[in-house]
Amino acid sequence: MLTVQNLHQYYGGSHILRDVGLSAAPGQVTVLLGRNGVGKTTLLKSLMGLVPIKSGTITWNGQPIQHQTPYERARSGIGFVPQGREIFGRLTVEDNLRMGLAYKSGSTPIPEHLYTLFPVLKQMLKRRGGDLSGGQQQQLAIARALAPSPSLLILDEPTEGIQPSIIKDIGRVIRQLADHGLDGHPVAVLLCEQYYDFAEELADAYLVMERGEVIAHGPGSEMQEKGIQRLVAI
Ligand SMILES: Nc1ncnc2c1ncn2[C@@H]1O[C@H](COP(=O)(O)OP(=O)(O)OP(=O)(O)O)[C@@H](O)[C@H]1O
Ligand SMILES: [Mg+2]
Repeated sequence: MLTVQNLHQYYGGSHILRDVGLSAAPGQVTVLLGRNGVGKTTLLKSLMGLVPIKSGTITWNGQPIQHQTPYERARSGIGFVPQGREIFGRLTVEDNLRMGLAYKSGSTPIPEHLYTLFPVLKQMLKRRGGDLSGGQQQQLAIARALAPSPSLLILDEPTEGIQPSIIKDIGRVIRQLADHGLDGHPVAVLLCEQYYDFAEELADAYLVMERGEVIAHGPGSEMQEKGIQRLVAI
């Protein structure tokens, strides 16, 4: 279980995250919604330790982690799929997947179940990451994050610029991870999205940010009746 309380973050003098709180539970997809520039990526990077926070607590499986390095957070079972994918374009697909295992011992094999989730990657193991389509790169970024079997998966706008058929595949994988876990391992999913219909379909819980604050949250089943789409329509 991930629990975040009273999180404040600044870039220089700009107060970006304002008293943010949230939780993400195993077996659930928690969606984070909000228009451009409200601080979604900043929040996710703060959870990973990729940007420093000013104050607040981040608790993961009962341990405060807000002073840990990104490396320590990854080791404790948190996987991150960054906005824009950030795969290594000049490395092969196989080596990109190995990068996901970098903190494990050198002999840890790439788990076969990744190819069950994303069969296209198996066919393309020897291709360079940069030669894949945008959607294939997104699948690679997700598989790389899943390689060390995280129990929390954080995804930052995985549908951005991706063709509809691959969006569907990614949605299926996210649902499967939350429902059945990875390799028998229960997974909590925190999914940041601007594609409203995709988010609503997957959401067990939602939160909406505006100017660095959480302005609405609740169970996914209430999103429609609460008119959440209006809060995030561009
Ligand atoms: N490295 C940085 N230095 C200074 N300001 C930044 C930095 N990164 C982001 N910001 C600012 O912080 C605010 C929040 O940005 P952030 O990227 O977190 O938003 P977002 O909700 O992820 O937006 P998008 O939907 O476009 O991805 C914006 O005003 C942005 O300009
Ligand atoms: Mg962003």
